[in-house]
Amino acid sequence: MTSSTTVVLTYLAQHHERHLDELFEFLRIPSISALTEHRADVARCAEHVAHQLHAIGLTRAEALPTDGHPVVYGEWTGALGQPTALIYGHYDVQPVDPLDLWESPPFQPTIRDGQVYARGATDDKGQVFMHLKALEAHLRTTGRLPINVKLLIEGEEEIGSANLDAFIAAHRDQLAADVAVISDTAMFARGVPSICYGLRGLAYLQLDVVGPASDLHSGSFGGALANPIEDLCKILAALKDENRRITIPGFYDDVRPLAEAERVELGLLPFDEEAFRRKVGVPALAGEAGYTTLERLWARPTLEINGMWGGFTGEGSKTVLPARASAKVSCRLVPDQDPERIADLLTEHVQRLCPPTISLTVTRMHGGKPCLTPLDHPAVQAAARAIEVGFGKRPVFTREGGTIPVVATLAEQLGLPSVLMGIGLRDENTHAPNEHLDLENLRNGMRSAAQLWFELAR
Ligand code: BES
Ligand code: MN
Ligand code: MN
Repeated sequence: MTSSTTVVLTYLAQHHERHLDELFEFLRIPSISALTEHRADVARCAEHVAHQLHAIGLTRAEALPTDGHPVVYGEWTGALGQPTALIYGHYDVQPVDPLDLWESPPFQPTIRDGQVYARGATDDKGQVFMHLKALEAHLRTTGRLPINVKLLIEGEEEIGSANLDAFIAAHRDQLAADVAVISDTAMFARGVPSICYGLRGLAYLQLDVVGPASDLHSGSFGGALANPIEDLCKILAALKDENRRITIPGFYDDVRPLAEAERVELGLLPFDEEAFRRKVGVPALAGEAGYTTLERLWARPTLEINGMWGGFTGEGSKTVLPARASAKVSCRLVPDQDPERIADLLTEHVQRLCPPTISLTVTRMHGGKPCLTPLDHPAVQAAARAIEVGFGKRPVFTREGGTIPVVATLAEQLGLPSVLMGIGLRDENTHAPNEHLDLENLRNGMRSAAQLWFELAR
């Protein structure tokens, strides 16, 4: 370890208690991007992040308006002749319901068993914070950074990053960099630090069907007309075959098959299928025939019914033939599937399956493109060395089933490869009650993030 590494890592150890207090301040702001009643909190959170960027010593730090929630931009570009990294993260969080299942209130961060519990602890405020404090450690000890950094911290990731592409297009020169660094994914497991090289994409749609003009007495009318809920169920049930393959014509056309070498690599990861089954609490796992669980999660597309409603669901019984039924349906996509094309194919197919007894409307919600990042890029190797310093272990290489829409945009619009060095854990309840972050991973993540800037300068 070089002496400058020691100085920076020592600073992180010495200031950890204060850093935790500051993390708590960040976590107390209820920046729920999906809910209009939290609009002012989201704006306040953007100002808070901008203020923090300024306080740690960046030369530029501001919350910039968009057509939605603000984007926070910051930079320090004093390392002449050195590369530039663009750090991306998001300060918005998911809604907190069901609230009664939280053991401590979601916006009152609490430490239990070495974990900090709060909405946003792992997704993604804790991981954004990790980068801020790593930068602070450099700027407060050596007065500089080994390379140039720019930060792009958005407030709409959890609602599909709808305004971010336009922001990036409008600020192309300002955002120019050599590599993007993102911490918004999970480690493979506790004690197994990792670098993620692939994310799935997403296409999300809502299906609404209408039968009779109004709800009807099921005794007076039942038997003479179709039930819209039943018809919708038939459409949905027809979307997969007995091998759990998706039946939409053309759906798999653009799926890049897994190379044999990659299947071997994924097969070597220390994945405990039985522990996974127990953790999710199902009697048996299931998925597309011919693939392992990790392949199904990371490298194969899916179709899920996210929710379904219609008719009478209240207390007691009501003999009604409902007029309408709805469902939310989404597909996770893999390279080289395109969310727009998949939404087109799904729409055409459900319309084809729709019987003459109902009318069907399909509405498109948000989407995101899948991506793979180049494993042989020197920045990925630099991150691997940084993680080895931070965690004391070489990372493994993983993919993820989730989506970060900006990764594809950064590649397409700015030509940037992304290094995905997340420090979350799969079982930290992201998007669920009792979200938490492991404090040891946070500490080691801060050390890795600090070391990364030395490694990238080499
Ligand atoms: N941090 C997640 C993405 C993620 C999830 C990475 C799981 C690795 C594993 C991100 O905040 C997220 O939740 N993304 C959404 C995207 C959607 C709203 C467009 C997702 O994946 O559902
Ligand atoms: Mn996230
Ligand atoms: Mn999320």
